[in-house]
Amino acid sequence: MCGIVGYIGERQARPILLNCLARLEYRGYDSCGIAVAGGNLQVHKDAVRVEALKEQLPRRLEGKIGIGHTRWATHGEPSKVNAHPHGDCTGKIAVVHNGVIHNYQQLRQKLIKEGHTFTSATDTEVIPHLVEKHFDGDLEKAVAKALAEMEGSYAIAVLMDGKAELIAARKDSPLIIGIGDGENLIASDVPAVLDYTSRVIYLEDDDIAVITGEGVRVKKNGETVDRKPQRVTWSVEDAQKGGYEHFMLKEIHEQPKVIRDTIRANLYTDETAADRDISEKVGAGEILMLACGTSYHAAMVGKYVLEQLFKVPVRTELASEFGYSGQTSSQTQAIVITQSGETADALKAIKRLRSEGCPVTVITNVVSSSATRIADHVVYTMAGPEISVAATKSYTAQLMALYWMSLFSARIDLRRKDSLIMELRQLPGKVQRVLDDEETIAQHAAQIAKHDNVFFIGRGINYPVALEGALKLKEISYIHAEGYAAGELKHGPFALLNGKAPVVAIVAPDNNYEAMLTNIKEVKARSSPVLALVEEGDEVVAEVADSVIVVPKVDPLFSPVVNAVVLQLLAYYAAKERGCPIDFPRNLAKSVTVE
Ligand code: F6R
Repeated sequence: MCGIVGYIGERQARPILLNCLARLEYRGYDSCGIAVAGGNLQVHKDAVRVEALKEQLPRRLEGKIGIGHTRWATHGEPSKVNAHPHGDCTGKIAVVHNGVIHNYQQLRQKLIKEGHTFTSATDTEVIPHLVEKHFDGDLEKAVAKALAEMEGSYAIAVLMDGKAELIAARKDSPLIIGIGDGENLIASDVPAVLDYTSRVIYLEDDDIAVITGEGVRVKKNGETVDRKPQRVTWSVEDAQKGGYEHFMLKEIHEQPKVIRDTIRANLYTDETAADRDISEKVGAGEILMLACGTSYHAAMVGKYVLEQLFKVPVRTELASEFGYSGQTSSQTQAIVITQSGETADALKAIKRLRSEGCPVTVITNVVSSSATRIADHVVYTMAGPEISVAATKSYTAQLMALYWMSLFSARIDLRRKDSLIMELRQLPGKVQRVLDDEETIAQHAAQIAKHDNVFFIGRGINYPVALEGALKLKEISYIHAEGYAAGELKHGPFALLNGKAPVVAIVAPDNNYEAMLTNIKEVKARSSPVLALVEEGDEVVAEVADSVIVVPKVDPLFSPVVNAVVLQLLAYYAAKERGCPIDFPRNLAKSVTVE
């Protein structure tokens, strides 16, 4: 979603701001802009990509202090006038903002009555006008007074011509300060500043920071607070393409390492607090798992894993639907999965769960993200930064976290437990074998790319994998795709099988095998082509399906990992075949910070 950057120091702000903005492109955006102060305040913005904005900038745009923004439209269409930064009536103040100001209409009407004029349709524009109204020489105080009038969520950076400082503030929207040498940066996300520093202050809700080239002072509710910089372990390379054509392909290929890293990390800690807590509490009640999108599909796989290994009832719900129903009890133990830790629906669900007295464990990939601040326990996944909008390695990392969490306290026969742990250790090699088969998968993808409708079917633990395969394909290739529990096809979707819509069937050698075989035959009887994912050694399915992709032998419990990697590659190469902008699909954002 929207991205914020800011720079103050000894160097020219312009190239640094543009570079930081380019690093935030993965969040998804429709317009961008920068403001640079150096003698006077210059604002340049448009509904274009960062590269195009760079071309539009005047040759002389000098100044050692500036802010920038990538916007993902919520209030007002993507346009030059609605792009950030936004300014006040004097042309001296510039503001960039992430989040939503709920009372902006009332504030706007009040400000108009007081003589302010507005040019955009955004909620953000009230902020510079409020700062202007309250400014009496002290920018920090003016910002604090403006924030006090606002209801909603925000991360903001404020720049005022003639002031050698930037003001940053946050509430329910992430914001960090990158600590450099004689220079400091502001960003909504760590990858933006990695080219300049690996020392970062994570601002907390209601923090207001005054940033100069020499230092940072943070206040909360008027009191100075000590926010210590933390060292980020992600490298610039982690956040770059590393020779791959797209971030998505790089991230798909990182999965063996992600699995290895998880195993290594967990080998040296016998149990995390979260594991203990879950194993102690679930005996009495149920586990409720909540998430959105791909993370929800990981949660659905988690349901099968936890039910099999813990022998307790597990319920999954979409975090975005949880507000409208969903019972909890004093014995509900909640697990919320969110790669970004910033998904608004997930945060809302956590707040509700906590208010109802349910302990919440968050599985997330982003250190100090908003979800980590409001959860009881945090389990970090070992995926590293995921830049591509389409989630791939974070899904695998989430599954790994769930496998480890449940294996440690598994209520199963010891021999079975040992054999699962051994299998898990072999999983990186198995995933590597899928990746080695990339060319074959790409050939199948070229066939899939010719169609406008594709169905994915699976049963049991591979039903969520069918959903994930369909989601991946539709979001990056724009091919209409639906995932179904294989047994459900004949309850309606059969009407669409006209020989033109291929069906991708995920077949694991578990207790669903025979039923899957029957379903494939049913599809074939309706003349639809079937591409089946089968385990090596299986010769039966190949006789029924039109074509097969062979996956390495794994315990069925781990089949959602290898099968999902195949489907990620299938989606990737289908999208490539169709010439789609794979890393930044239209209308999508990496971090969905609105409900
Ligand atoms: C799909 C995808 C999304 C996210 C969803 C939740 O490829 O990336 O469906 O999975 O927006 O995001 P997080 O996990 O950050 O809460």
